[in-house]
Amino acid sequence: MPLTAELAERLRLPQYPRSAAYDPDWALANLMGPNALWLTEALASVMDLRPGMRVLDLGCGKALSSIFLAREFDVQVWATDLWISANENWGRIQAAGVADRVFPIHAEAHNLPFAKGFFDAAVSLDAYHYFGTADLYIATYAQLVKPGGQLGIVVPGLRAEFLGDVPAHLAPHWDWEFATFHSPEWWSRHWARTGQVTVEHADVVPDGWREWALWLEVCRDAGYHYSPSDLALLEADAGEHFAFSRILARRPLP
Ligand SMILES: C[S@@+](CC[C@H](N)C(=O)[O-])C[C@H]1O[C@@H](n2cnc3c(N)ncnc32)[C@H](O)[C@@H]1O
Repeated sequence: MPLTAELAERLRLPQYPRSAAYDPDWALANLMGPNALWLTEALASVMDLRPGMRVLDLGCGKALSSIFLAREFDVQVWATDLWISANENWGRIQAAGVADRVFPIHAEAHNLPFAKGFFDAAVSLDAYHYFGTADLYIATYAQLVKPGGQLGIVVPGLRAEFLGDVPAHLAPHWDWEFATFHSPEWWSRHWARTGQVTVEHADVVPDGWREWALWLEVCRDAGYHYSPSDLALLEADAGEHFAFSRILARRPLP
């Protein structure tokens, strides 16, 4: 059943004017976590995307971010994912009218079928933390873009690393896999110390935790899949620790 006008209005955020033009039912029906359009718009706002660029979307899930980037910035996108098949994404890409510039690929992040330096930019939304916390992975990601190419991620994270144990107010809602959630400073150092990239931007998405909670509330109220424990965690935290880390780096020129 389509969203009520009231619920649709709650998802129309002034900070994401491009996302607001998309059908919220489409975003909800294809959700795999936080709102992929908002994350993509937040990352794109700190990137330099030009028409015709070749962009890797790594861990694209149901390819909403890839479709968004192709439509909004007229870039070509290789929509690459492990859990979602290329067949499934191809159907969504065709239906969205971007079959001429979004190409679905089924691949694992450590075994990607792309030539080194093929891309002008790579993005990864709510996915890079599944494989990119390993010290060596940035070299795999970075070599896919040409020298000077951009590498962006937005991932669920923390404002700052915990100094000790998980804070007591979060412990009841804590999932051990949140060990992959890190601060912008952590990601920045994690990448910069390898010398493989130059970090240009590392911050938290402004109000990201509030938007995440809002999204979960609307999913709940509209009868879509959502995680009650994630919502409880965000409410208990009230923006003290949880955030979306947004990092942009470039592969150095020779
Ligand atoms: C939480 S989903 C997010 C999907 C999408 N980016 C979004 O925001 O809706 C995480 C995605 O990461 C992808 N992923 C996780 N581990 C991966 C790996 N080793 N190689 C490629 N993709 C991976 C999964 O296939 C999944 O679609």
